[in-house]
Amino acid sequence: MKRQLTLVTLTTLVFFVLGNLLMSGCTKEGPAGKDGQDGADGADGTASCITCHSPDGIEIAATQFQLSKHSWGGAAFEEAGNTTCGPCHVSEAFKYVCQFGTPATFSLNTTTNRYVNDYVVPASVTYGEITCSTCHSSIHATYGPDDLALTTVAPVPMSMWGGAKTIDIKADGGRSNLCVKCHQPRPLTASAGDGNVLDYNALASNPGAVFYDAAASGNKLRPAYRTHVHYGSVGAIYAGVGGVEFPGVAYENSVHTNIASCQDCHMAPMQGRAGGHTFSAVSNFNGCNADGCHSNASASSDFLWNTPRANVKAKLDALGAALAINGVDIMNRNPDRDHNLWYNNTTNRYDGYLNIYDPINNPSGPDTNPGGVFQNPSPSNSWSQAQKDYNLTLPKLTLTNAQMGAIINFQLCLRDYSLGIHNYKYTMALLQNSLTALGQNAI
Ligand code: HEC
Ligand code: HEC
Ligand code: HEC
Ligand code: HEC
Ligand code: HEC
Repeated sequence: MKRQLTLVTLTTLVFFVLGNLLMSGCTKEGPAGKDGQDGADGADGTASCITCHSPDGIEIAATQFQLSKHSWGGAAFEEAGNTTCGPCHVSEAFKYVCQFGTPATFSLNTTTNRYVNDYVVPASVTYGEITCSTCHSSIHATYGPDDLALTTVAPVPMSMWGGAKTIDIKADGGRSNLCVKCHQPRPLTASAGDGNVLDYNALASNPGAVFYDAAASGNKLRPAYRTHVHYGSVGAIYAGVGGVEFPGVAYENSVHTNIASCQDCHMAPMQGRAGGHTFSAVSNFNGCNADGCHSNASASSDFLWNTPRANVKAKLDALGAALAINGVDIMNRNPDRDHNLWYNNTTNRYDGYLNIYDPINNPSGPDTNPGGVFQNPSPSNSWSQAQKDYNLTLPKLTLTNAQMGAIINFQLCLRDYSLGIHNYKYTMALLQNSLTALGQNAI
């Protein structure tokens, strides 16, 4: 019944459009002419439309998409107009970096003598909510079924590494690479130095060296509350590429990395609020139990769910505790369940930011941390004198390479969300080897 309704609607639409086209050249009626010859039958005007415009095609996808954070999340609106944030947050910018292959490299600007991140787009394409055409960029290009092709499946040079490492998840024709193009970490830069991307390998190979000391010269960056590798760490952890790889336990990947794609679990048949074009995997085990992969995965399965997740949580808890100076946490705690997306992933409710003072002057701004305990090395001109004075009473932060690398790994593994479901082996190795680098025994 619904299918018929769609057919009728589209037929009407096509006739309406054609009708308008024919009418548009007509100014006034002349005398009636002789009937012409019948033309040959044209192709069925609605057949190609129906391949997509059917109840179980785009209509159901669009209904599911209402539950996707891609659709209801505010970031596409907030980051509109921003040439650096655009490639992952706004539709036209994403399509631009895919079409033109914008490099993830850093280049030296010889005028300022500082490095700049090349992963930017022109201001003219910094708009557009994430929607159907973001991922299916050819919609209505030919009105044929190929129009649903994915915008990209190409390997993804990592922004965090200035393009020095690449993620290529090969399962199912590389369709995960579409997701990873956005769901990847962002670079930390030598913002107090030459602006270049940090040398993460140096952190791993020389863990004892001082990375930051307010009293020393040559610091690469001044740590801030928001010194972080951003939120989309999943791509790196899933692929097992791009952590700060301290020596120790071998870095290996779980089978998921080679045989599964993001879509297998995140676009599985619907269950509650998850599956299909909601892109959510929360409380939906349909993907796990499909294609002969697992047979009884569920939230009550100790072997497949509770035990691995508890193990990763214990490691995150241990690393959070080890990242402390004189008993004061370096990592920030945020017990606000509504604002800490990773609330459930550690006992102490870490959010991956640093425990650095950053007072509120703009109550609606998210970038502040008035309860931060370490002294802010970059006090802002907008602070009150009382805030500047208070800041000076706080203890100063110092960091070794081991601590800086461990902070990055903590952020990557916490913000991967899945507590090891994405790639248990790589997650456990990164966390354990970070603990070892900090001089902690295995837990
Ligand atoms: C390859 C799949 C595909 C084909 C084939 C297709 N469409 Fe669409 N169409 C879409 C998608 C996807 C949307 C966006 C739906 C949404 O935003 O909910 C859309 C939206 C529309 C809209 C709403 C306005 C708009 O542009 O957002 C109209 C009208 C439309 N299509 C007409 C047609 C007609 C007429 C045909 C056949 C000549 C056709 N479509 C063939 C996928 C397709
Ligand atoms: C154009 C970039 C882009 C692409 C491509 C993309 N995502 Fe996203 N995704 C985002 C952004 C940005 C958000 C957060 C939106 C917001 O907060 O407004 C997000 C949110 C999500 C969320 C919700 C996370 C949460 O905090 O609950 C899931 C799950 C997700 N994406 C999975 C996927 C999967 C799976 C794919 C591939 C099929 C994919 N995404 C492709 C950019 C993208
Ligand atoms: C390399 C891709 C990428 C770039 C560049 C990027 N982001 Fe994001 N961002 C993401 C992804 C992916 C998410 C969603 C992660 C998730 O929820 O799993 C996200 C989430 C967010 C969120 C939502 C967090 C929340 O609490 O829901 C904000 C705000 C945000 N980004 C701001 C920015 C700003 C500002 C910039 C530019 C300075 C930026 N992003 C650049 C990929 C990116
Ligand atoms: C975040 C990326 C993303 C967005 C946004 C997105 N899609 Fe998809 N869509 C996919 C992927 C991935 C597939 C699976 C294709 C494959 O495996 O080749 C898919 C498949 C489809 C299919 C084929 C049948 C199915 O459900 O698997 C339809 C129809 C479809 N999408 C319509 C839409 C419509 C309509 C919208 C907007 C409301 C939309 N898509 C938005 C990524 C996306
Ligand atoms: C083997 C199944 C599986 C695969 C494959 C998978 N995920 Fe997940 N993902 C999960 C599970 C399970 C969670 C945690 C859900 C929860 O918290 O209950 C999750 C969580 C997430 C989240 C946080 C939002 C949410 O839905 O909870 C994002 C974003 C995400 N995954 C993106 C990806 C991306 C991108 C890929 C591909 C690179 C991917 N996932 C591959 C199972 C999977």
